Amino acid sequence: QVFKLEDYRPNDYLIPETNLTFRLSPQATRVIAVLTVERRGGVSASAPLVLDGDGLTLLRVEIDGRPLEPADYMATPDQLTITTVPATPRFQLVIETEVAPAGNETLMGLYRSSNVYCTQCEAEGFRRITYFLDRPDVLSVYTVRIEARRDEAPLLLSNGNPVESADLTDGWHYAVWHDPFPKPSYLFALVAGDLGKVTDSFVTMSGRKVELGIYVEPGKEMLAGYAMDALKRSMRWDEEAFGCEYDLGVFNIVAVSDFNMGAMENKGLNIFNDKYVLADQETATDADFANIEAIIAHEYFHNWTGNRITCRDWFQLCLKEGLTVFRDHEFSADQRSRAVKRIAEVRTLRAHQFPEDQGPLAHPVRPRRYREINNFYTATVYEKGSEVVRMIRTILGDETFRAGMNLYFERHDGQAATIEDFIKVFEDASGRDLQQFALWYHQAGTPNLTVSSTHNPGSREFTLEIEQSVPPTPSESRKRLMHIPLAFGLVGADGEPVAYSSVEGATVENGVIHIRKRRHVVRFSGVAERPAVSLNRGFSAPVTLSVEQKADDQFFLAGHDSDAFSRWQAFNTILTDALIAAFRQILGGKPSVFASRLTDLAGKIAGDETLEPAYRALALALPSEADIARDIGKNIDPDAVFRSREALALAIATANKKLFSDLYDHLVDDDAFSPDAASAGRRALRNILLDYLSLLPAGRELAADHFHSATNMTDRAAALTVLAHRHHGSPEAIKALADFEAVYADDPLVMDKWLQIQASVPGPQTVDTVRALTRHSAFSMANPNRVRSLIGTFSSANQTGFHRADGDGYRFFTETVLEVEKRNPQVAARLATALRSWRSLEPGRQAKAREALLAIANAENLSADLRDIVERTLV
Ligand code: ARG
Ligand code: ZN
Repeated sequence: QVFKLEDYRPNDYLIPETNLTFRLSPQATRVIAVLTVERRGGVSASAPLVLDGDGLTLLRVEIDGRPLEPADYMATPDQLTITTVPATPRFQLVIETEVAPAGNETLMGLYRSSNVYCTQCEAEGFRRITYFLDRPDVLSVYTVRIEARRDEAPLLLSNGNPVESADLTDGWHYAVWHDPFPKPSYLFALVAGDLGKVTDSFVTMSGRKVELGIYVEPGKEMLAGYAMDALKRSMRWDEEAFGCEYDLGVFNIVAVSDFNMGAMENKGLNIFNDKYVLADQETATDADFANIEAIIAHEYFHNWTGNRITCRDWFQLCLKEGLTVFRDHEFSADQRSRAVKRIAEVRTLRAHQFPEDQGPLAHPVRPRRYREINNFYTATVYEKGSEVVRMIRTILGDETFRAGMNLYFERHDGQAATIEDFIKVFEDASGRDLQQFALWYHQAGTPNLTVSSTHNPGSREFTLEIEQSVPPTPSESRKRLMHIPLAFGLVGADGEPVAYSSVEGATVENGVIHIRKRRHVVRFSGVAERPAVSLNRGFSAPVTLSVEQKADDQFFLAGHDSDAFSRWQAFNTILTDALIAAFRQILGGKPSVFASRLTDLAGKIAGDETLEPAYRALALALPSEADIARDIGKNIDPDAVFRSREALALAIATANKKLFSDLYDHLVDDDAFSPDAASAGRRALRNILLDYLSLLPAGRELAADHFHSATNMTDRAAALTVLAHRHHGSPEAIKALADFEAVYADDPLVMDKWLQIQASVPGPQTVDTVRALTRHSAFSMANPNRVRSLIGTFSSANQTGFHRADGDGYRFFTETVLEVEKRNPQVAARLATALRSWRSLEPGRQAKAREALLAIANAENLSADLRDIVERTLV
C-alpha cells in the first residue's frame, strides 16, 4: 500500500480523552481502553468508526456501557470497524485487548527489555497495544493506570504527572498518571520494572520546580551523571535561546538496552537507548559523551518542537525532526566549539545524506509518498531538514528568524501542523516570499553549483559566474530552480576581506549571494587585484560545488581563510583532489606521488597553536574511503580507494615524522579526566597523530604503549583501532583485543566497541571474522546495538571487507539481513540500506551486489519494511 500526501483528510472522529488501564504480565497483559469519542461536526451519523490495530487480540468492546452486538462491528488483528455508531455526537467506547510483551522482538508497541516493560509507539506502535485512531492529528488527554506485581515492577511510569499509587491484594500495586497536554498516540509511553534512580531538580525561568529522574539498570546509577548534567543544561538553553519553558512537574528519562533507534521524546517520559545515557571515562569515548549531550538535548527540545506542536501526518515528519536537529546542533555549538561542531555536522551530512540524495533512496525532505513510514527516519528528513531550517535563518537573519519561531509557538501551540504552516510564520514575520525557497522541502537531490571567476584589472571588475543544476532523482526527472543562499568572501593577498564598491547580477546581502536563477553573472566593481574566493562559507547551503579554482588559491585559503569552516573545507578539498589523483594512478599501475606543499601544510596545521586542537584533529582526518568513493562517483574499486588513502597517510606521516612525534609527546595529559570539549579536542589530536605515527617504524610498539597506558576509553579505543586496523594479526593487536575482551566482557556497550573495531578491519578476511563473531557470547541477533555494531559496521563502514571482490561480503549480508528480519524488520530494513550506492561500484561488484539484493527481494514472507527498501534500491 502506498500512502500519498494529497490523500490527507481529517478523520470523521476524534478522541479527546483516553483512559488506559494496564494489567502487566509478560505473556498476557490486559489493556482496557476507555475512549471518549467525538464525531466531527458535519459528519453523518452513519459514518463507521475505523480504528487501527496491529496484531491485536480483541477481548471486549462496549459503547456507553453496553457490549456491541456481533453485527455492529468487525474485528481483525489489524483493524476494528464499528459499523453501528450511536447517533449522539459523543460517546464512550471501551476496548479490551490482550498483548504479549515478552514475545515482542520488533521492539515496537509494548515489549520487554531485560525484564523491564517499556514502549515505543512512534510512528505506528500504539496500534500494537490497543485499537485507536493511531495518527498524529488525533490529540487526546491521557490518564493511565498501571497495575503490576510489586516484586516484578516496583517502578511504574507513564506520561505527565503522577496522580496516585497504592498497594493492591496478592502482591500487586498500581500507579495512576495524568498528562494534561493533549497528545497524539505516538507520544504515549509506559515503563514498569525494577530500575535504579538518579534524581535532581530544575527551576524553570518562571520559577517552577521540576523533579528530574533518570532511571537505569540497578547498579548503573553512577553512569547517569553526565546525562543529568546535559539535561539541565538543555533545559536552561531552550529557555534562553528560544524562550521554551518546561511545562510539567516531572521529567523522566529511562535507559533501556533494547531499542531500535537513539531515543524517543514521549511527553514527560523520554525513553533512551542506554548507549545514549550511560557514560564514564572508563567506558565511554569523547564521541559517546558528545552524542549523549546532543541526544538528551534533542529529545528534550522535542517537548516544544514535536510535542506541544506536533505533525499533522507523517509526511510532515521533518517539521519536528529537521527543526529539532537544528536546535540540538545550535545547543552543541553553544556548549562546545561552534566551528568544530559545524565541520562535524557537515562531515556527517556528506557521509550520510549526500549518498542518500544521490542514490535510489533519494526523497524530498518532505516526502509525498511512502509505503513504510519507518523507512523515512532518514538523514534527509533529519539532517537535510536541519540544514533547511538553518538556511531560513541565514536568509532572514537571527532576529527575524527568532520572531518567526516565536510566531510559530504562539500560533500553533496545541496543534498538529504542516510544513506550509512553518514556512508561513517566517513569511509573516519577515514580509518575504519564501515560495521558491520552499522547494528545499519538496524537491529531492543535492543541487550543484558550477562556479568560475574572472578578474579584469583594467576595469577593476571581478566576476563570478554561477550556474545551478539539480540532478534528476527517482520519480522527479525535471527539477525547478531553487533559491540557494551562498555565503562567500573575497579574500585579498593579505588575508583580509576585499572591499568592492558595487555589485550587480544577483542580490547580495550580508555576505550571501542569493542564487535564484539558472545562471547568475555576479559583477563586483572596484576590485583592483584578483581575490581568492571563499565559497559556501559556514556551509550556508547543502550543495555540491564544481569550482574552477587554482590550486594556489586553494592552498592560500587553507592557510588564511578567516572563516574557520571554509579554511577546513579548503584543506579538505586539497586532500580529496590528491586522493582522487592517487586513485587514478593506482588504477593505471603507477605509484602515487603527493606534492610536498600538501604534506607540509598538514604539518603546519597540526602544529598551529592558534588553532584549537579539535579543529586540527578534524583537519588531519583524511576523507574516509566512502567519502573518496562518493567524490569519484562511479566505477569504484574499493581496494584502489583504500590504497590511495593509505598512501597519502603514509606520505603525510613520513614528511612530518619529527613534528608529529614531538607534538604527540607534548600532548600527554596528566590532568584529571574531563569530558569537556577542550580536553576531548586534545585527545582527538593526539589520537590522530598516533594514527599517522603507527604507519612508521616502531609505530606498532607506540600504539601498544598507548593502549596499555590509556586511562580512559577514548585513548584505549583509539589505540585498539590502530592496532587492529594497521597491524592486523600482529601479536600486539591480538593481545590488545584479548585484554580488552577480558576486562569488558560483562559490559555490553563496551563490547560493542570491540565488535565494531573488528568489523571494520580492512581487507577481504574480515567477513570470516565477522561470521565467527556472530557466534560470540557478546553478540546477539535480537539486540539492535549488537547488530549495528557488528553487522552494521561491517556493511556500512568497511569498504574493502564488505565489497570484497568475490561477493562473499554480500552473501553474508543477505543471510544476516534475512535473519535479523525474522525478529526485527525495522532494524533489518535499516541494515539493508548499506547497498544503496551499489550502482557506483565497478561492474563486477555491481553485478554481485545486485544478486544479493535480488536474493533478499525474492525471499519468502518479506516484511513491508525490508521489501520497501530493497525494491526501491533495485529500481
Ligand atoms: N522521534 C525519535 C527522535 O528522533 C525517533 C523515533 C523513531 N522511531 C521509529 N520507530 N522510527 O527523537
Ligand atoms: Zn527527533
